[in-house]
Amino acid sequence: MNQATFRHFGEARRDDWALIDARFRDYVADAPRRVLAHLHNLAGDTHGYPVDRYQHSLQTATRALRDGADEEMVVCALLHDIGDDLAPANHAEIAAAILEPFVDPLNAWMIRHHELFQGYHYRNFFGQNPHAREQFRDHPAYARTVRFCDDWDQASFDPDYDTLPLEHFVPMVERVLGRPVRGGLPDLVKEPVDEPVKASANGEATP
Ligand SMILES: [Fe+2]
Repeated sequence: MNQATFRHFGEARRDDWALIDARFRDYVADAPRRVLAHLHNLAGDTHGYPVDRYQHSLQTATRALRDGADEEMVVCALLHDIGDDLAPANHAEIAAAILEPFVDPLNAWMIRHHELFQGYHYRNFFGQNPHAREQFRDHPAYARTVRFCDDWDQASFDPDYDTLPLEHFVPMVERVLGRPVRGGLPDLVKEPVDEPVKASANGEATP
């Protein structure tokens, strides 16, 4: 049996969920390949910038690498704009959501807020406060987010820069996104729980 046959969840048995769970774990393990494939969607249209988002992503990662950033940070740099084609108005949320299960929470915070921090370099042209990031000055990820934007992200629009090709970063992406999911995936139990499980306000089961 390679596929469950229920027509709705009310018909699903433990064997069905065991099959789906196994397939899901394979699917999760294959995520790095799909993420890298999606990165190619950023190639092509420059949207008026000097380089397209694909080159920008590679260049940001290259600069981070050459500045001695650790592997996780380099992967964050490579993927920080990956949501640009799907959610151009709030793309940072997409990259943060993709990376969050695998990286330091402070790095996920950095990616989630990079748009606002990057705005230090252009918000004044749009009548906005370029210093808006100062509201986070006391946050433990403030310094790394400033460095990320100032040294690597905003600097990576140079068509003449000696940017490394994607192949250079593929093993890094595979290692970081191949880590166990933070907090783990729920394990299938031998017997389904009959008693309703009390749920807390955040949806987590409580004993
Ligand atoms: Fe960027």
